[in-house]
Amino acid sequence: MHYFAYRDGKLFCEDVPVERIAAEVGTPFYLYSRRTLLEHYRRLDAAFSHIPHIICYSVKANSNGAVLRALCKEGAGADIVSGGELFRALRAGISPERIVFAGIGKTAEEMRFALEKGILMFNVESGQELEVLSTVASDMGLRARIALRVNPDVDPRTHPYIATGLKEAKFGMGMEEALREYRRAAELPGVEVVGVHQHIGSQITTVDPFRESLEKLRELMARLKEMGIDIRYLNMGGGFGIPYQGEDVPVPDDYAHALTPLLRETGCTVILETGRMIVGNAGVLVAKVLYRKRGGQKTFLVVDAAMNDLIRPSLYGSYHEILPAARRDGETEVVDVVGPVCETGDFLARERALPRMERGELLAVMSAGAYGFTMASNYNSRRRPAEVMVEGERFAVVREREDWQELMRGERPFPGDIEDGAMP
Ligand code: LLP
Repeated sequence: MHYFAYRDGKLFCEDVPVERIAAEVGTPFYLYSRRTLLEHYRRLDAAFSHIPHIICYSVKANSNGAVLRALCKEGAGADIVSGGELFRALRAGISPERIVFAGIGKTAEEMRFALEKGILMFNVESGQELEVLSTVASDMGLRARIALRVNPDVDPRTHPYIATGLKEAKFGMGMEEALREYRRAAELPGVEVVGVHQHIGSQITTVDPFRESLEKLRELMARLKEMGIDIRYLNMGGGFGIPYQGEDVPVPDDYAHALTPLLRETGCTVILETGRMIVGNAGVLVAKVLYRKRGGQKTFLVVDAAMNDLIRPSLYGSYHEILPAARRDGETEVVDVVGPVCETGDFLARERALPRMERGELLAVMSAGAYGFTMASNYNSRRRPAEVMVEGERFAVVREREDWQELMRGERPFPGDIEDGAMP
């Protein structure tokens, strides 16, 4: 669900017309509905209310401070994968006791930062990482709370780039290796074993892969118990998918209904690292048609947003619905919606039937709240877009559009070359 809808033919975000925001802010921009965001969070939280749980919102999905602060107020924790994400989460007020740190390449510096702040736990992904963490923590006179990331070898049936729980993936460790590493971890001076972690993939649209992987984790936990290792936290990762084109996908209650008995049996506090389900449909990317263009048999709508703003269609071939800001009835035409970037792979939609749109008109690329801005780049020296948040009738720019100076921030001439501004 979301609060983007037409009223009298105009696309609104909650109670504000998209056209009004565009007139004030310019295009392109990301637009977030706070009500949608909060409702998604609350539904998920309520669905799992029958078991002790923590929702560690996956910061990588959308790390804007306004999004993080809104979720923090609801009681969310954070799933982070870098020192930068930890910095953002703390800045937004998220309590370190609700922060979990994943990722296969944590540096010693990042570990120290997280230990200093007292995060809830590290999701450790390899034997070597375990040793380094133990040393770093011991040197600080601390013990790092850890879960090992287990790779349960289940097929999440999603795009191969975001399937992470198969045995050939670079993430986590297989069951047998995990058992060995748990045994070793129990002996290490700088770590304290508290949990088990998995993350089997993203944009998963059925409950089954979770059921399958949780069964395997349960077996693992039983074996750990025999070894005298007691697990208190079961982190089931993220991955709950969302509808991009009206598909029927499980909602939080469906997941909770199917998984709660299994989870409850473990007696653990359950951690959910959900990103996309909370924020994905709470955001859109608003762009303007710059030109109409014919090429061969094709009609192109050249818009002012590109693959640098939203890379999902180019990278994964993802489908994002496109809605005109002013509804048009009548005939549709089949177009490619493309950006100004100098690559044939720069498109937001291909072979899409849309109402005929003219130069200057606005459109919204839907379901762009997750992995939209966070994956944006400055490719082609394009400024990253503004971000705007709406609540009811109010809206605010929650990140300014970058300016050209910012594009060159930190760059210096090579010694002896001409200074900036002295260019002919
Ligand atoms: N936990 C871990 C360890 C993860 O790696 C991820 C996502 C999540 C949680 C959150 O997953 P979610 O609930 O959002 O599915 N850029 C891709 C998605 C990459 C996901 C990476 N890991 C996309 O645009 O589809």
